[in-house]
Amino acid sequence: MNITVTKKYLIFPVNISADMRRVCMNINGETVYALNLAIDNENPKFNAYIDVSRFMGKDLSISVSPETELSVRESDTMDIEGLYSEELRPQAHFSTKNGWNNDPNGLVYLDGTYHMFYQHNPGSPKWENMHWGHAESKDLIHWEEKDMALYPDNTGTMFSGSAIVDNKNTLGLQTGELPTGVLFYTSTAPFCQRMAYSTDGFKTIKKYENNPVIKHIVDANRDPSVVYCQELGKYVIALYLEKDIYALFTSDDLVSWTEIQRIKMDGDNECPDLFCINTPDGERKWVLIGAHDRYLVGDFKNGQFVSVQDIRSLHFGNSAYAGQSFSDLPNGRAVRVDWLRWFDLSADRFSQQMSIPLEMSLNKIDGTYHLSVLPVKEIEAIFDKTQKYENLSLKAGEKTSFALEDSAYIFKIHAKALKDNKLSVSFFGKTVECDLKENSIKLDDHKGPLSYTGEALDVTVVVDRCTVELFSDDGRIYITECTVADRNMCEFSLTAENDCIIENIELNSLKSIWNK
Ligand code: FRU
Repeated sequence: MNITVTKKYLIFPVNISADMRRVCMNINGETVYALNLAIDNENPKFNAYIDVSRFMGKDLSISVSPETELSVRESDTMDIEGLYSEELRPQAHFSTKNGWNNDPNGLVYLDGTYHMFYQHNPGSPKWENMHWGHAESKDLIHWEEKDMALYPDNTGTMFSGSAIVDNKNTLGLQTGELPTGVLFYTSTAPFCQRMAYSTDGFKTIKKYENNPVIKHIVDANRDPSVVYCQELGKYVIALYLEKDIYALFTSDDLVSWTEIQRIKMDGDNECPDLFCINTPDGERKWVLIGAHDRYLVGDFKNGQFVSVQDIRSLHFGNSAYAGQSFSDLPNGRAVRVDWLRWFDLSADRFSQQMSIPLEMSLNKIDGTYHLSVLPVKEIEAIFDKTQKYENLSLKAGEKTSFALEDSAYIFKIHAKALKDNKLSVSFFGKTVECDLKENSIKLDDHKGPLSYTGEALDVTVVVDRCTVELFSDDGRIYITECTVADRNMCEFSLTAENDCIIENIELNSLKSIWNK
């Protein structure tokens, strides 16, 4: 099939149950873009909006293997009926308009805008054809999806990576006032690390001419996490190698990288995130965390990362994965976003979502550093209706309940005298159980430890259409679950094993972030 590109999108009819085909777009005999698409002309379930605007005016010849007829439509816009009001569409969390997303990539703050890139398949709501999608926000809560940032090319598909602002113009690429935004990503054929950059605040992104910046080392080495390290006076990249092994590289110029160290992260793999964070006492520490949220805390000393304690876990659920922190945030803030994985949910148009952006802190308790996460305070921008209850008295075994709306919510519970008690909290058919005898907290089947000593128990919950995020122990325990909210059970209820008083409860419904 031959086509002269006159519109932004080619729309391919797809059905994830159909056979996968290789669709190659060629210009003058050279393949310029290729995707795996489950083409189904007769019974399409998904419109794959494939952006071809970079080939505008050019003649594309499209080949499909194994061969089949192609009926392709063209459009300048993504006309998606009922966008953002789909049954499963998260209302307080980011998800991609059409297709699939996984890991957050290249989280960076540049010139007043938060940029979130992410692993994206525009070709179906399943993992495949990794591109980098792109969304922007002014407040970390409301996101606007932008044009595709990185497309697969003859070096492979575009796997995860990170971003940094080249404030010192180290690359010498800056053209105006705005510093260069730099992306590091993995290409997969073979697996090596590459750089891309933007001189206009990520409106346009170019791949670096002298890629790769880190050659293939082993297996499917991937997911570069870049940061500037004051202690070393160098840039550092943390890279996932294989099994539970990661490597650190340093560079003076962002272009030539030297391996300095290998680090074993017991029980973790993929997507390292290396960042520095201050404790409330002003102590500066470095954290290396893997995709499973197992983390090391340490310092850069004598040219190396030196961990000061054993690896710890932040996350005890099954959904959050491959989190990443924003680089270049003002005022030393540390904020991260996780991919919230969906399991066994059939979404026709889109699949997967991100977590609420999480404020991180590092606290030293009895000689051990603990990383904590809590929803960023910016979430208050979408608080809608607030219900507050004080000194609520619960009678043993009796349920106390409050009506909820059919909406996303954030709940906060603060209680003191719960020693040896058991408190169970239910909402939209989900249950959180706090067992103060055995000091544990459970979200359905996912259990985490508590360190309740008879002082205060604080629990925060964010619930949306298909995810629950639970925070306790001041955010040191993070439990997430992918589970569809039962919207017929619009009720918040509490039951305790023994009589008790709950000092404060605050239930805030959340406005949709998609309402303008
Ligand atoms: C983690 C991961 C990364 C990889 C990406 C591919 O979810 O497997 O290691 O770069 O996803 O989409």
